Amino acid sequence: MGRRGVVLLGATGSIGHNSLRVIRANSDRLKLVGIAGGSRVEPLAAIAREFGVKHVTLFDQNACHDAKKSGLFDPDVALGTGIEGLNHLATLPEADVVVVAVVGTMGLHPTLAAIEADKEIALASKEVLVLAGKFVMAAAKAKGVQVLPVDSEHNAIFQCLNGAPNHEVARIILTASGGPFRNHTLEQMAGITPEEAVKHPNWSMGTKITVDSSTMANKGLELIEARWLFGMEPNRIRVVVHPQSIIHSMVEYVDGSILAQLSPPSMTFAIQHVLLYPERRAGVDQTLNFEDSMNLEFNPPDLLRFPCLRLAREAMQAAGVAPAVFNAANEVAVDAFLKKRISYLGIGDLIDHTLQKSDNFEPTNLEEVLDIDRSARRISNDLITEHES
Ligand SMILES: NC(=O)c1ccc[n+]([C@@H]2O[C@H](COP(=O)([O-])OP(=O)(O)OC[C@H]3O[C@@H](n4cnc5c(N)ncnc54)[C@H](OP(=O)(O)O)[C@@H]3O)[C@@H](O)[C@H]2O)c1
Repeated sequence: MGRRGVVLLGATGSIGHNSLRVIRANSDRLKLVGIAGGSRVEPLAAIAREFGVKHVTLFDQNACHDAKKSGLFDPDVALGTGIEGLNHLATLPEADVVVVAVVGTMGLHPTLAAIEADKEIALASKEVLVLAGKFVMAAAKAKGVQVLPVDSEHNAIFQCLNGAPNHEVARIILTASGGPFRNHTLEQMAGITPEEAVKHPNWSMGTKITVDSSTMANKGLELIEARWLFGMEPNRIRVVVHPQSIIHSMVEYVDGSILAQLSPPSMTFAIQHVLLYPERRAGVDQTLNFEDSMNLEFNPPDLLRFPCLRLAREAMQAAGVAPAVFNAANEVAVDAFLKKRISYLGIGDLIDHTLQKSDNFEPTNLEEVLDIDRSARRISNDLITEHES
């Protein structure tokens, strides 16, 4: 069996780190052929050296300029930058699969470029489908390209569905850890600081997704991601809070049977499943040990304390460009919260007001979605400036 060429967009991040662990442990099956990062030169150079990668992109132009002068990369490494650099990696002839794990919607264009070039997609960046799921999934269908979910919940659903026809499925049930503030009162939530919100009890992840998990906006984004990945109507996608993060999601079939996928909370399980799919091999992390006692707990989500989840569901049900507005407003809100420009509860308020101020319509092309993304960000930023003055 030959080795699969892997391109890793977001190589220096949390998903990137876990992807490298999987690639390292399966070097007889997987070969890293291209890597991209945002602006951190040294960790990217270390990965290039260890894996002998010859195609590297540093999105930030200044960082790329510094990298060229740094001597940290071998002279035969091709260093690219910007969106062209990402698209170049996504379409490398030696790539079979492209892992999209950059924060936010930056992964959209490389994902589309990779689909166009017949590469399999290992999708971690859920925001890509929230922004433009209709167009990404249509492009993948037209090219016969698989979009395999790296997000642990969607990977769990993918495994539990195992190709079952849509009419045999009653609903899919996404589990949510509930984040670090699941037992906080609204009064306690009002005073949450960025330092508190960037710590997750179960998962070690990048900053943005950790804050999203704490507000449950992340689960909201996942609702919309599931809608596109599995072609499931909004009212057939449920959320249940499961604080232990052992069951990663479930599928309820029409006959009442519910299948679940379990593993300890490490992303390597989902990443390896996708990169080696459909082959199964020993994983890189410890599996569950049923010799130890374990309690699994389930609670309904509280939409009053976690309005971001309610707003995401409403946006998904409204359809059209509402999910794109939700996503843009959330990105602006999280950034503003981390910079202490708005309060923790201000995140939900900002998304709510941005949705109220934005038109909703069914987009007919990608450009319309990108326009809405820009205008929603403008509206959110104006609202923050108004609030500060
Ligand atoms: N972490 C998880 O467990 C997890 C689980 C499910 C889904 N996801 C999704 O996976 C994506 C990545 O999350 P993460 O937690 O891995 O984030 P992260 O730790 O913050 O890493 C982000 C990565 O993206 C790179 N990057 C940032 N801007 C870029 C740009 N414009 N072009 C190219 N690369 C860029 C960063 O490079 P620098 O190091 O140079 O900044 C870094 O390698 C998110 O969409 C998240 O929702 C993550």
